Amino acid sequence: MKTIHIEKQNSSIFVGESYLNIKNYLPEKKCFLICDENIYRHYSEFINQFDYIVMGCGEGNKNWQTAEKIIDQLLERGADRNSFLLGMGGGLVSDVTGFVASIFMRGLEFGFISTSLLSQVDASVGGKNGINFGKLKNMIGIFNPPKFVICDPVLLKTLPKREVRSGFGEVIKHAFIKDEDLYNFLNDNCEALLNLDPNLMENLVYRAVSIKTEVVEGDPFEKGERKKLNFGHTIGHAIENNSDLTHGEAVSVGMNLACQLSQELCELSDIDAKRANDLLRKFELPLDHDVSADMINQYLIKDKKKNRSAIDFILLKKIGEATIVTLPIEELKTKVIALCANPN
Ligand SMILES: NC(=O)c1ccc[n+]([C@@H]2O[C@H](COP(=O)([O-])OP(=O)(O)OC[C@H]3O[C@@H](n4cnc5c(N)ncnc54)[C@H](O)[C@@H]3O)[C@@H](O)[C@H]2O)c1
Repeated sequence: MKTIHIEKQNSSIFVGESYLNIKNYLPEKKCFLICDENIYRHYSEFINQFDYIVMGCGEGNKNWQTAEKIIDQLLERGADRNSFLLGMGGGLVSDVTGFVASIFMRGLEFGFISTSLLSQVDASVGGKNGINFGKLKNMIGIFNPPKFVICDPVLLKTLPKREVRSGFGEVIKHAFIKDEDLYNFLNDNCEALLNLDPNLMENLVYRAVSIKTEVVEGDPFEKGERKKLNFGHTIGHAIENNSDLTHGEAVSVGMNLACQLSQELCELSDIDAKRANDLLRKFELPLDHDVSADMINQYLIKDKKKNRSAIDFILLKKIGEATIVTLPIEELKTKVIALCANPN
């Protein structure tokens, strides 16, 4: 097992720890476990030891109604300020659990057993919690770190293959923005990683979490450097909202488009743009979409990374180095129209 401690957030991530050891991490408090229907189906024997609440699966359930239902249940079962919430699931469960824990009775302690690759490498790390508002992703939320995150590779065995690939979308993002060695590791070990080789996966999750925590430590409230973690997300969120793609798949498409913009605006070399493209393909992630430029642009106008008439957009200078470029929204909209008219 490897431990990463985020000093400024007083939050620890345990990579390679067994979820069955959870009792070693829970405080002496009344604990409520929150999971989704799939997780309950796969892990009911474990979950039945807790007072548990099951939420629906899918982005459509990451909303006020779900948060209200959980709060109702907590009140009905006598939760109080001294209770602890344990989210067991992917990014959806961790975002909602962290959000409810942050607002219930002005804040409870919480922790996660992270069950999807995407949540182990990204969603449950860094303290961002939230829910969608209508079609707008993560529009309501709060920065508030969990006490701990358990990342047990064993849990990934029940994760559907499509969700495994989706998780690699976020890992690849970390490599693109920060770590060319990680790019090479992914490129060299693609097949074994897609087959979830346990040692390689533990190593990979540890590297990805280390990159994310380093960035989060330096900029916990996303005022500067942390914005780079949004590489591929600005257009990716617009695509995720208007298609059937998963989060990681939509981010893959968003990264492909952002690479094309990087070639134009940031002198990303043709060679590195091709290397980026090749890695996404190798992990069987999509590069294309069928969302209209108009729908993407309507979404961009409401993006929370937008300031008045400009948006902080993340581009690549080379594999392993990202930069933040403030683009006037009208210029970005024109570029989106061009990108959609001439898909790569
Ligand atoms: N807070 C953050 O910093 C952050 C970062 C990235 C993404 N996110 C959010 O995370 C969410 C995406 O996360 P996700 O991809 O984990 O989605 P998810 O939580 O919806 O999980 C994907 C699917 O896999 C199932 N699943 C998860 N773990 C499983 C397991 N071990 N066995 C069987 N089935 C399993 C889930 O039930 C679900 O059907 C999005 O809402 C996104 O906005 C948040």
